[in-house]
Amino acid sequence: MADIIIGLVGSLRQGSYNRRLLNACVSLLAPSFTLEPHGIDDIPLYDGDVEARSGLPPAVAALKERIASSAALLIASPEYNNGIPGPLKNAIDWLSRPVADIPRIFGGRTVGVIGASPGRFGTISAQQAWLPVFRTLGVVPYFGRLLTVAGASTVFGEGGEIVDAGTRDRLSSYLEGFAEFVRGHRLDS
Ligand code: FNR
Repeated sequence: MADIIIGLVGSLRQGSYNRRLLNACVSLLAPSFTLEPHGIDDIPLYDGDVEARSGLPPAVAALKERIASSAALLIASPEYNNGIPGPLKNAIDWLSRPVADIPRIFGGRTVGVIGASPGRFGTISAQQAWLPVFRTLGVVPYFGRLLTVAGASTVFGEGGEIVDAGTRDRLSSYLEGFAEFVRGHRLDS
């Protein structure tokens, strides 16, 4: 169904700010789309021997098919050492296997990346670092708006909700632009 947007939480941490950020998107996204959040918790470390012996882990195969039938992918990515976080890169690497499947899963699909960090720059370096990966996968990155959440420890409440009105407004604005962009770049799925 083309009205589904697959959300990827790029952290394994239960209290993850990026998990909270993606969860907040569920209610803020335009009603014409349904955001389906997915974790990466059940995706093992990539191992070429495992792939050669047994193919894709079931969690990877299932997520690939959810992405294949989606209108877009929205990734909430942490930033580690000014770059891509390993666990999320590992998940994307599995999802890119086998190579022959990349066009079906990623080719021409709209991808947005957002992120939250307790630091001052709110994952801007990680968002930049994803670009060569996006190019390799042939996705259509959404560049219309930028959503970086700095100082994340003061942005979310106990229940994970966004308590900072400015952040909520910026996220709403990002999602509005993202939804409009996805509408204009639909793939026939
Ligand atoms: C970090 N963190 C971090 N933050 C940042 O803004 N820029 C950075 O370069 C780094 N580097 C970094 C490296 C490593 C190895 C860790 C574990 C952490 C802090 C990071 O933003 C913080 O742990 C977030 O809470 C991670 O996101 P989640 O798990 O809350 O979604």
